Amino acid sequence: MIERIVPAEVETAEAYGDLAEATLFPEEALLVKSAVQQRRGEFATARHCARQALTRLGAPAGAILTGERGSPLWPRGVVGSITHCAGYRAAVVARPAHVTSIGVDAEPALPLPSGVLEAVALPDEQIAVKELLESVPGIPWDRLLFSAKESVYKAWFPLTRRFLEFEQARLVFDPVGGTFTAHLLAGPARAGDRTLHTFDGRWLSEKGIVLTAVAIPA
Ligand SMILES: CC(C)(COP(=O)(O)OP(=O)(O)OC[C@H]1O[C@@H](n2cnc3c(N)ncnc32)[C@H](O)[C@@H]1OP(=O)(O)O)[C@@H](O)C(=O)NCCC(=O)NCCS
Repeated sequence: MIERIVPAEVETAEAYGDLAEATLFPEEALLVKSAVQQRRGEFATARHCARQALTRLGAPAGAILTGERGSPLWPRGVVGSITHCAGYRAAVVARPAHVTSIGVDAEPALPLPSGVLEAVALPDEQIAVKELLESVPGIPWDRLLFSAKESVYKAWFPLTRRFLEFEQARLVFDPVGGTFTAHLLAGPARAGDRTLHTFDGRWLSEKGIVLTAVAIPA
């Protein structure tokens, strides 16, 4: 389902649980050698998805190591993003000729634990979430906001190499169009000769999962 929220030029692969055929290169296995089984499983399956997507893109599907602040290290000439949550793993990749940076995030479609919304949402975002929970029921808007912020960060970081606090982006959802806009309060991101004050994203909530994506077109 992730292909529905990214541009057509983006290659995607997803899995609704861990895959027995998912294997790691030795240098990838070293990255999770001390991790619990659940982490090793999601790591291997998401990298398996990434290699499927890279192959479809016509890019080398080798080891994907981890770089600065946990970001995945893609082959030269590829941008991409990885996500995993209970019951879902996905990877997306594209060519910089089409997409400058991309971030995706999946979360279980459940309300956030008590107190988390207040920690990750600005006061006007909290008001908007509460209004949406009443006017458009059936969608965990608080969790969707959280996921969208993580997608914003995953697209932001490769461009800026800077952390982004949760209060440094103000998100506005279009509940009908399945889109959102992130206003970058930490200052703009540079993408080539462009200065970006906002990122545009898309979302969906289906099969017990909320999914968000921010793809910055080239
Ligand atoms: C990094 C972070 C976004 C990951 O999100 P998550 O919901 O915990 O986990 P997900 O499974 O969806 O994503 C994990 C994947 O994100 C990718 N990732 C991690 N750090 C990253 C970074 N700095 N930049 C881009 N991608 C990153 C990795 O591929 C990772 O999977 P892997 O370790 O198996 O390779 C989150 O842990 C975090 O640090 N958030 C704080 C920053 C933030 O979100 N700010 C909001 C600004 S509005």
